[in-house]
Order: sequence, then structure tokens, then C-alpha cells
Amino acid sequence: MLDRFIVFEGLDGAGTTTQSAELVGRIEANGSSCDHDCEPTGGILGTQIRRVLRGAASLHPCTLALLFAADRHEHLYAPDTGIIDRLEAGRTVVSDRYAYSSLAYQGVACGSEFVERANARYPHPQLLFFLEVPVSVCLERITGRGPAELFEKEHFLSAVAERYTEVIERAERDGVAVHRLDGTRAADSIAEEVWRIVAETPIVSM
Ligand code: TYD
Repeated sequence: MLDRFIVFEGLDGAGTTTQSAELVGRIEANGSSCDHDCEPTGGILGTQIRRVLRGAASLHPCTLALLFAADRHEHLYAPDTGIIDRLEAGRTVVSDRYAYSSLAYQGVACGSEFVERANARYPHPQLLFFLEVPVSVCLERITGRGPAELFEKEHFLSAVAERYTEVIERAERDGVAVHRLDGTRAADSIAEEVWRIVAETPIVSM
């Protein structure tokens, strides 16, 4: 478990980017140093993953799962710039997606065992926010954002949604502080709830 590491998860269109950015702003306004990260990252491997998501390149689904896991390894362990070193330097890190995305998305095509093995050594965050939004609402939100990415299709997102429920329940059983939030509410009200939870959490709220 990594203190001061906070993760947002949810389907495409659930609002993880908006809510993670909002939280970073509030933590900084409260006087703590905080980074807004995302996965896939903007690094060498994350850039290749984004090419595949855009349809500019193609990989076997399980090769892609390994690439997501490798991008995450670099995200965690890169000297100085990785999550671990930044946390040790006293910063808070808020990530838009983490290993739970791999378990839910890549689990569909590669199966749970393969993806779990690839991500088995990665530590859990101190807090995990899961934004619950029905697939139909996510699809409405995604439409109009530009060309659909690889996973932005109804039948696929429905399969991901089922897996996400299991993945999040499993994290909870493993002792992670999971907070499921109704992501269909107004963004402001979700942000308020997130902030209330974070402010009540020792270490993060220092
Ligand atoms: P996201 O950053 O939410 O998309 P956007 O380009 O709109 O900001 O995530 C990109 C996609 O990658 C999204 O469909 C979820 C998927 N994904 C996985 O399939 N596995 C993973 O491990 C991660 C981190 C993301």
C-alpha cells in the first residue's frame, strides 16, 4: 500500500480525468505538493500504447496487456521521476487510471490470470475512487469527443463494466480503501465528496 498515492478508475467517459484534475487542484490549494499523473503515461511505452488505442498501430491483445504493465512499471519505479521516488520526496500523486484498468480492460481479451500475473507485484494505492456510470451514459459522453478509440464500443465496454465490478470488489477485500461514487451526478458535487473523503484521510490531509 502506497501512502499519498490516490487512483481514479472508471469506464471511458466516467469522468476520471476531470475528477483527478479537480482533486490535484484542491490538494495544492491546501498547501501540499501534488502531481497529476495518468496511465497510459506520456513516456516511451505509454506513447506506443496510445498509437495502438488510436488505431495507428496494432498489437496482439496480450502483448498490449504486457505493454500496459511495462508502462506501469516505469511509472512506478523510474528513478526520481517514478511514483515511488516522488512519494518518498513527500509529494502526493493522483493517477487517472492504474492496474485496475488493466485487470478490467485487458482481462476481457486475455483473461484474468494472464493480466493478474503481469500486474501481481504492483502496490495498491492508499485511496481508490471508482466512478460508477452506466455504459449507455459513458457512450453518450464519449460521442462527440472525436474518433472512437479502440475500446470505446458498447459491447466491449459492457464486458469491461462487469469485470470492473469484480476487480474493485477484490481490491476492497484486499484491504484497499475503495470509494464507489455515483459518477452521473454533477461534477462539482462529486468533487466535493472526493475532497471530503481525502481531507478525512490521515497522511494525505497532513
Ligand atoms: P484514458 O486516458 O481514459 O483515455 P483518453 O485518451 O480519453 O484520455 O485511457 C485510455 C484508454 O486506455 C481507455 O480506453 C482505458 C484504456 N486502458 C486499458 O485498457 N488498460 C490500462 O491498463 C489502462 C491504464 C488504460
